[in-house]
Amino acid sequence: MWIANAWYVAAWLHELEPGRIHARTIIDQPLALYRTSGGEIVALEDRCCHRFAPLSLGRLEGDDLRCMYHGLKFAPDGRCIEIPGQKLIPQSACVRRYPVEIVGSWVWVWMGDAAVADRNIIPPTLALDDPGYRLMAGALDYAAHYLLIDDNLLDLSHLSFAHEKTLGLDMPQWADERPRTVALERGLRFRRWLRDHPPRGFMKKLGERVDVWNSYDFLFPGIFLQRTAFYPQGTAEQTGGQEPAGLPLFYRIDEQAVTPIGPRAARYFYAVGTRASDIDADKLERLFSVTTTAFYEDKTIIEAQQKLIDLDPERRMLPTSLDAGPTQFRKLVYGWLAAEHGAPRVAVPAAD
Ligand code: FES
Ligand SMILES: [Fe+2]
Repeated sequence: MWIANAWYVAAWLHELEPGRIHARTIIDQPLALYRTSGGEIVALEDRCCHRFAPLSLGRLEGDDLRCMYHGLKFAPDGRCIEIPGQKLIPQSACVRRYPVEIVGSWVWVWMGDAAVADRNIIPPTLALDDPGYRLMAGALDYAAHYLLIDDNLLDLSHLSFAHEKTLGLDMPQWADERPRTVALERGLRFRRWLRDHPPRGFMKKLGERVDVWNSYDFLFPGIFLQRTAFYPQGTAEQTGGQEPAGLPLFYRIDEQAVTPIGPRAARYFYAVGTRASDIDADKLERLFSVTTTAFYEDKTIIEAQQKLIDLDPERRMLPTSLDAGPTQFRKLVYGWLAAEHGAPRVAVPAAD
């Protein structure tokens, strides 16, 4: 069971090539995505209303899409505008069109009732070509339930262990220092100081030791908007553990989105970067490469975890204080599921 009344990231904007139809699946609903000549993104149900052939196997004719099984042609709004050999086109000859918005460089699709789609609830994100920043982007596919990926992002203690040689190198603080958590309308906000960290690699120039201010918002369905700011050692003390006001020595940006595809499939979109003044293109490539390696570390462990969960789905997990974020977020998700479906509670691979 899925939450349909929500925006989901369907693609990076640059993935949707002009003149091509892209097949994507979100919450078990197949989509055919394409660009019109005016640059608008169209998302139609990827199922022809005639005999259910996928429209993504069709062809674009200008801004229209023709099903290449028996030739029905559809306008970008989903209306059938041509049936070969038949003059009368019934009103019911149409495919569903989904609301689409582009914010930053993500293409968002509203999967539920179009009448209640509200663009204003899409969180702001950076465009990959924003001149003030240097960003690189990727995506990877998971054979796992999206909530297991959410759990991973809601509990960054795993950086000290799953990423001990990459993102968590010499940073036991990820596991040792608990974040402060604040409830948001569609998720949670996490903030913390990671004190006394020895920078590695090209960041050694920042000093022998630094204090790191880490803050991120985590929003449904799996939107992770993180800023990690490096300050001179002692800043955490000076601020009394509060949010710093001054400009950091270095500023890392992570923007990610987890999109559920099906019960055991999800896509993970990610961008990594810094302020344009912080880094050159070479160093950004190194940062991106280490980050991508780390995300494969996550993928390996989460997919293996999913297999063990599926071997014995009734088995209870052992909660610890590390699970506060994942547990709080799942409560929100269960509440939204109940609100949409009227179900008291829904079974998903749980950590609570
Ligand atoms: S299935 Fe599409 S035209 Fe027949
Ligand atoms: Fe991770």
